[in-house]
Amino acid sequence: MATPTINSDIKSLELADLGKKRIEWANQSMKVLQIIRKEFIKNQPLAGMRISACLHVTAETANLAITLRDGGADVVLCASNPLSTQDDVAACLVRDYNIPVYAIKGEDNDTYYSHIMAALDHKPHITMDDGADLVTIALTKRKEVLQGVIAGTEETTTGVIRLRAMAKDGVLTYPIIAVNDADTKHLFDNRYGTGQSTIDGIVRATNFLLAGAKFVVAGYGWCGRGLASRARGLAKIGDVFCTVTGNKSVLRKEHFEAMKDGAIISNSGHFNVEIDIPALDKMSSSKRTTRAFVEEYSLKDGRKINLLGEGRLINLASAEGHPPSVMDMSFADQALSVEYLVKNHTTLEKKVFPVPEELDKRVAKLKLESMGIKIDRLTLEQEEYLASWSEGT
Ligand SMILES: NC(=O)c1ccc[n+]([C@@H]2O[C@H](COP(=O)([O-])OP(=O)(O)OC[C@H]3O[C@@H](n4cnc5c(N)ncnc54)[C@H](O)[C@@H]3O)[C@@H](O)[C@H]2O)c1
Repeated sequence: MATPTINSDIKSLELADLGKKRIEWANQSMKVLQIIRKEFIKNQPLAGMRISACLHVTAETANLAITLRDGGADVVLCASNPLSTQDDVAACLVRDYNIPVYAIKGEDNDTYYSHIMAALDHKPHITMDDGADLVTIALTKRKEVLQGVIAGTEETTTGVIRLRAMAKDGVLTYPIIAVNDADTKHLFDNRYGTGQSTIDGIVRATNFLLAGAKFVVAGYGWCGRGLASRARGLAKIGDVFCTVTGNKSVLRKEHFEAMKDGAIISNSGHFNVEIDIPALDKMSSSKRTTRAFVEEYSLKDGRKINLLGEGRLINLASAEGHPPSVMDMSFADQALSVEYLVKNHTTLEKKVFPVPEELDKRVAKLKLESMGIKIDRLTLEQEEYLASWSEGT
């Protein structure tokens, strides 16, 4: 095995063969990103750009990182959550693609932040975030890197909310595109991707029988709707609970007090603050790990409550995250947003911007084409009819 000369901090290079297969498998379902990658290889729109990306290190993210690298960028990757890294994917990026990665599944908080620091050591021109941790650390602890940053992107709802708060307080020092808000992102990734992969994560962690169970979803935004629609048809009050709000203390003491013995609680929102774990700790006499990603809390009144994945986003902690065919659009939005920012950053204010509509539409069109779907056009007669007020009588 070739020893990479690049810096990185990953679990083990020995996992790289497995990671390669996984990245290639995901790539097959990421047709839009494939088209963008070909264009990037030809046009080199990111030549000379250093990119620090703080994203979930999954097979889909690997394909995005490779696309950016092929567009001429010098990319480094760190994890955007301590539990979401696919160690085999990280190994393959380092060994086969020369992309430095700082991410280990299950890393502690200190390691998580030291990895973000390592990504910032790269002196990025562009930052890519999923949850705004990279920007936050740059603004608070690594101000010296900010003068080199020209622009950034943000992947998720919670990150966009944090960034808008920064812009409002006047502390944001460069423009950021809110990839999350693209129609081709949240209408698919948040809704269908989180919907399916969250149930996948809960089932993989517990091997719980869904038939006849009552599944409680807290939060009815894009992710919550998707999760509820995938869970619909399950049936009796509160066997499995999942928060997906982006807010804190959604499940707390009063809820734990009312839960049935053996209830399963989980979260798929960005941060591990949606379940009040300190309150659960206080109510418990002991806790033990009963299987991977399952901690059984024994309450002082004798009931047991099972917390999944330390309250971190369960679809990435115990499953693989969203399917590649949905991440295809999210990451096509990312790649095109980075290209747009490199071209236009000098004209943009230090604010959070939507993905330009023409890029969002282009991603939608390419996705439909890649699925062999054609959209009928109005006939000339129909167009004239709609444009006229005198017809139709
Ligand atoms: N697990 C993943 O892979 C994944 C993917 C995308 C987004 N996310 C994260 O999921 C969270 C939700 O994202 P979204 O796009 O659905 O956001 P959204 O803004 O569309 O929806 C959030 C919903 O939660 C509701 N809410 C807020 N506080 C609540 C409370 N205390 N109790 C009940 N409901 C409450 C809000 O009213 C809103 O309807 C965010 O943290 C986001 O970053 C996770």
